Amino acid sequence: MTFIYEKLLKPVFFLQEPEAIHDRMVRLGRILGAIPPARWTISLLYGYKNEKLRQTIAGIPFDNPVGLAAGFDKDCKLMKIMPSVGFGYAEVGSVTAEPYAGNPPPRAYRLVKDESLVVNYGLKNQGALTAKQRLAKRFRFPIGVSVAKTNKRFKNDEAKLKDWIKVITLMKDSGDYLTINLSCPNTWDTTNYCNPLRLKQLLVRIKKAKIVFRTPVFLKLNAELTPKQADAIIKLCKPEQWITGFVISNLVKDRAKLKLKSVEHGTYKGGLSGSVVKKKALALVRHFKKKGGKRFVLIACGGVFTAKDAYEYITAGASLVQLVTGMIYKGPGVIKEINKGLVALLEKDKFKNISQAGRG
Ligand SMILES: Cc1cc2nc3c(=O)[nH]c(=O)nc-3n(C[C@H](O)[C@H](O)[C@H](O)COP(=O)(O)O)c2cc1C
Repeated sequence: MTFIYEKLLKPVFFLQEPEAIHDRMVRLGRILGAIPPARWTISLLYGYKNEKLRQTIAGIPFDNPVGLAAGFDKDCKLMKIMPSVGFGYAEVGSVTAEPYAGNPPPRAYRLVKDESLVVNYGLKNQGALTAKQRLAKRFRFPIGVSVAKTNKRFKNDEAKLKDWIKVITLMKDSGDYLTINLSCPNTWDTTNYCNPLRLKQLLVRIKKAKIVFRTPVFLKLNAELTPKQADAIIKLCKPEQWITGFVISNLVKDRAKLKLKSVEHGTYKGGLSGSVVKKKALALVRHFKKKGGKRFVLIACGGVFTAKDAYEYITAGASLVQLVTGMIYKGPGVIKEINKGLVALLEKDKFKNISQAGRG
């Protein structure tokens, strides 16, 4: 499947502007998702089930550990088609309290030699009210809802915190879990809520608002945290029982030490996805596992292209993985390929189930 995609479809897709083809794929996916025979056919081609991949994480049953990362289905349109494509779950959004048309285009670029994308959408989305309506039904697999602070210029810190509370309150019960995206690198307001001092402000504010979470909550972190910052985040979050764990990580902002092969990257503004994220995200997953122990559930994200990539994250301590760029470069067949490959790796290491491999 991935061979056909890479040889026939990708060359045509990659002639088109990245955002234009992204939008077309979302439109097509939404249409196919609404037609049951189309869903069944796609399931036959792309579906893969194996008992060894089933596990319950934070009370949620997952058929397999490979999920769609936030940012591909920003406006919650693909929940019907993504299980047929083989994903075990999907994170929709990021959704913000107010709609936002996105940063000025062009806002997405390919760095083909680095199997990466430069992304500067800036939390483009139709807003929380629309997302909430689209999520009102039940779906065939677990849905994570990613929320973020609206991308606009705020009067002061108080206004920023109010916006956070608004989107969290609106969206907290709309999915099977909630992810608070602390780490979008492309916003007007550069306040970094992964900074432990800022995170503390937000946690205090959530407590003050007396928000009752009925689903697990994850915090999505940036890839460039120092070990000291990571330790401070662990210390802050440990006593907060409503925090289930972390999604590690978002796009990479700092390109200084990346040694990119695509020389043209210098002219593109935005955060980087794909292979360049993996080294940093894997180191952070290991750090959080070592320092956080069993207290937190970890979801790994960044540069998952193969079963080996996914297995590295899982054996480092992640319970689940997510991807976007792998699907764009290798096609939807990559999900089945990763899941099949994971089963082979589990058998090679004599694990009966994926949850045993993740004890790390
Ligand atoms: C086109 C695109 C849009 C994204 N938008 C979001 C977003 O809205 N919220 C978010 O938390 N992450 C967003 N991300 C980051 C991804 O969720 C993921 O953390 C990152 O791309 C690394 O994974 P990957 O290498 O599999 O792409 C986006 C990534 C891409 C490629």
